[in-house]
Amino acid sequence: MREQISTSSRKLDHLRICREHRVEAGFSGFSDVRLVHAALPECSLSEIDTGVRFLGHRFASPLFIAAMTGGHRDAIPINRNLALAAERFGIGMGVGSQRAALEDPELENSFAVAREAAPRAFLCANLGVVQLRDHGIEWAERAVEMIDAQAICIHANFLQEAIMPEGDHDARGCLEALTTLCREFTVPVILKETGAGVSGEVAGRIWAAGVSAIDIGGLGGTSWARVEAIRSPAGPSARLGERFSDWGIPTVVSLREMAGTGPVIATGGVRSGLDVAKGLALGADLCGMALPLLAPAMESEEAVENAIDGYTKELAVAMFLSGARTVKSMKKVRTWITGTTRQMIERIQEKPYGS
Ligand SMILES: Cc1cc2nc3c(=O)[nH]c(=O)nc-3n(C[C@H](O)[C@H](O)[C@H](O)COP(=O)(O)O)c2cc1C
Repeated sequence: MREQISTSSRKLDHLRICREHRVEAGFSGFSDVRLVHAALPECSLSEIDTGVRFLGHRFASPLFIAAMTGGHRDAIPINRNLALAAERFGIGMGVGSQRAALEDPELENSFAVAREAAPRAFLCANLGVVQLRDHGIEWAERAVEMIDAQAICIHANFLQEAIMPEGDHDARGCLEALTTLCREFTVPVILKETGAGVSGEVAGRIWAAGVSAIDIGGLGGTSWARVEAIRSPAGPSARLGERFSDWGIPTVVSLREMAGTGPVIATGGVRSGLDVAKGLALGADLCGMALPLLAPAMESEEAVENAIDGYTKELAVAMFLSGARTVKSMKKVRTWITGTTRQMIERIQEKPYGS
């Protein structure tokens, strides 16, 4: 019971901290990327088609609402506002970790509200890889059923766990649990990092486990090390969390490490429709945003819709100016990559993984 209360109240702390503090750290690499301008786009801005197919589903836009919340009654309006926007814009959405509701079914409505508000949208269930290992497929099944999900994100957050004194510090057996899930589950499984990125080597093992997609959740957006440092300023997490606040693989570098290896969602520091266009050109299929949608979701349905409408327009302008009428052609647009991001990518090429 103690753990049930702590999972739910920790989630509420996270919302408050992400809303009130500067929780971003490191760099995503997007500012080092430039799209090649098309002086003669030869298409009309009004006919830009942002539609995309992913895991057999059709999305009106590659912008994805990344997993954030649930597991507390204060999360109900947040998930409702996000889901209403997902339904209206025809985009996908992930709910936050469903652990709290799996421990205490009374909290299920804070997740189920998403399906009520978005009867047709692509919704992604969410479970930690450690909970998967410890509780098996039954928890994954219940998580999917709770929101009638089209896919499940299994999240890895070992940076955050390592910072928290009460975190799960034993990562053994997770890959095996993932492999078993992928083998025995009919719903697509997405392995999702939460802000520290996925390297080419690790991606190889994740694909071999049989996942349908990877959400790279790279460095440069919300830093869970920093969130934990802020959550317990007087505790041991404070110093450790700050020390590791920019630990990880920048989203753009992670994207380049695995471009072309399978369906990829780029999340972590995506801050505009222009970043979404850059993500597509670098090989992403969808681009996820969490933190930028939190404040609007805590405000109102209209605030979320305004935010997403703005990002969608930015994406359309970026596609138009790149001469890409469709997402398929946006993926072929050339990019220039400069600065530290370029240096990191060149280092990968000097020493390809497996060498
Ligand atoms: C308030 C908040 C809560 C989050 N909770 C979860 C979660 O429960 N499960 C999960 O997989 N990711 C969670 N995330 C991580 C995001 O889905 C995303 O991977 C990460 O924040 C990087 O994206 P961003 O830079 O756009 O915030 C959360 C993010 C935020 C901001």
